[in-house]
Amino acid sequence: MIETHDLTKKYGDFFAIKGIELDLKQGDVFGFIGPNGAGKTTTMRIIATLLNPTWGEAYVCGHSIYTNPKEIRRLVGYMPDFFGVYDDMKVIEYLEFFAAAYRIRGAQRRQVCDEMLNLVDLDFKRDAFANTLSRGQTQRLGLARVLLHDPQVLLLDEPASGLDPRARIEMRNLLKRLRDMGKTIIVSSHILPELADVCNKIGIIDRGVMSVNASVEEVMKQVRQKTVLHIGVDGDQEAAAQVLEGSEMVESIEPRPTYLMVTLKEGTSDYSDLPTWLIQAGHKLTLFREEEINLESAFMALTKGMGKKT
Ligand SMILES: Nc1ncnc2c1ncn2[C@@H]1O[C@H](COP(=O)(O)OP(=O)(O)OP(=O)(O)O)[C@@H](O)[C@H]1O
Ligand SMILES: [Mg+2]
Repeated sequence: MIETHDLTKKYGDFFAIKGIELDLKQGDVFGFIGPNGAGKTTTMRIIATLLNPTWGEAYVCGHSIYTNPKEIRRLVGYMPDFFGVYDDMKVIEYLEFFAAAYRIRGAQRRQVCDEMLNLVDLDFKRDAFANTLSRGQTQRLGLARVLLHDPQVLLLDEPASGLDPRARIEMRNLLKRLRDMGKTIIVSSHILPELADVCNKIGIIDRGVMSVNASVEEVMKQVRQKTVLHIGVDGDQEAAAQVLEGSEMVESIEPRPTYLMVTLKEGTSDYSDLPTWLIQAGHKLTLFREEEINLESAFMALTKGMGKKT
């Protein structure tokens, strides 16, 4: 659906992006993560045919950006990171203006616009002036606008930036809705946790180079190298800790007020013997669970040093 080979953009001697390889299938939601200046917008603008690469290939549904840009623009909905809305237009007029540009005519135009307003939950602002919308509402209006021509591919450049936590959740839900409609999506963000539960693939880009490009599961595996268990027993914690210390898979144990925090050695995934041993040693388990990875800190670890000049 979206394919790039050695996609590269230079400004003078400076590589804005370098050798970007993408291979996205229909229905993929690709989280494009990287700090400021990493090259996210550059990549997306090239795929949207709004910017020419210095060299390299990019295809959308088999169409090359060089030979079939018109076809690509029909297939793609591109939402830039910043876009203006016109001061003196109502929300519905704004959408109708763009629908007209897409040559959606007559009664169908009004109908499509109303459907899109409904999809992004903005019906209640239908007759408000576009410049009176909040940032979150403006972002949703922008999304409605790129959906008008029913594109199969969506390129969304930081749709959640500048939104409050609640609006971020709404934006995420909206992305899930679009994913469930079968759209192929590239969505960029500075932070991984924001996208982890929406995307199936993740690319991490820094200073123009994609350092990670893998499924969400693989990226998660990479960030969570060691499994941490919380194990609680009824009674003698210390004795339980001794039992656990005897296991090959345990790396360290830290006592907490109501449980033991047990870190397993790297690469250990099957720890099903541990509860059995504890029970056989006469302990009653009150708690046995794997610690959730803290995505925020895991991501910081993964991108350590990124964005800094070297
Ligand atoms: N027209 C241009 N001329 C020179 N350099 C440019 C131009 N456009 C972009 N760049 C540079 O290319 C690099 C990548 O920029 P890009 O906008 O793609 O980053 P980004 O990942 O979208 O960053 P942000 O998170 O801040 O939006 C930056 O270092 C930027 O300064
Ligand atoms: Mg950008």
